[in-house]
Amino acid sequence: MQITQAIEKLKQEKNAVILAHYYVDKEIQDIADYIGDSFYLSKVATKVDAERIIFCGVEFMGESAKVLNPEKRVFMPDATADCPMAHMATVEEIEKVKATYDDVAVVCYINSTAELKSHADVCVTSSNAVKIVSKLPNKNIFFIPDRNLGSYVAKQVPDKNVILNSGCCPRHANMTDDMVLAAKAAHPNAKFAVHPECVEDVLKHADYIGSTSGIIDYVVDTDAEEFLIGTVDGVFAEIQKRAPEKKLYTIKEDQTCINMKKVTLEKVLDVLENDTNEVFVEQELADASMKPLERMLALG
Ligand code: 13P
Ligand code: SF4
Repeated sequence: MQITQAIEKLKQEKNAVILAHYYVDKEIQDIADYIGDSFYLSKVATKVDAERIIFCGVEFMGESAKVLNPEKRVFMPDATADCPMAHMATVEEIEKVKATYDDVAVVCYINSTAELKSHADVCVTSSNAVKIVSKLPNKNIFFIPDRNLGSYVAKQVPDKNVILNSGCCPRHANMTDDMVLAAKAAHPNAKFAVHPECVEDVLKHADYIGSTSGIIDYVVDTDAEEFLIGTVDGVFAEIQKRAPEKKLYTIKEDQTCINMKKVTLEKVLDVLENDTNEVFVEQELADASMKPLERMLALG
């Protein structure tokens, strides 16, 4: 039996559903029941009625799915697949900002640990951050952990005082102005679609800025033949499925997320077969981090 058939069979037997982020490899996206960006997947996780969720993504995604669905069993194909940015803020920093400003909301990008979320007022993803921040009653916003998404949000919501910390995504933050200029020179007719985790010097060249789903929809729906893509190249699979005639280029050579790439078909089969890598979140932490996640789902 082929590995994909074995996965399908076990999925039925164990009443499991597979969720995959657009950054995992195409062969994983191909066996998923739901593929999407972080916001879509966190909404789907609350709606599926399977007993088990196999989350093909990184730790904060599986952890959020578990927090939002305490009664379901959530599994990660690779327990070491983690987003480094999720750890790039501290509770001490949050306490310090809270002590400095009276009217401050702590806005926590979903790419963060449950511990950071538990100290936040609301969570956001790249697809709803502007909308949610603009709806908050507070003047001061402490945006953690991504300084690049935070600074993009600050520009879109100029009436707020957005305080940033120093976190960033190593994969997006290492794309530079020069790389974009070189890619534009090589492909002068290409439109440039980019993720807001990139630095401002890169975003200033964009024809479109948005989440992974937003980028995919923009490329599929825009009447142009060529596109420069300023995010992890996992999004190429969905674009090529929906609009195979489009030509896609990265702006640097290796535009992958090494942690997302840890997810393989063999590991998906293993968690289904052996119930390995189950996600557990301690009750008190789960309760505290559920509040900002649920507020995001309500406002987003
Ligand atoms: P999305 O919210 O666009 O899915 O992004 C998640 C992510 O990790 C980007 O690096
Ligand atoms: Fe984290 Fe960056 Fe990978 Fe997204 S691309 S999961 S932010 S390391």
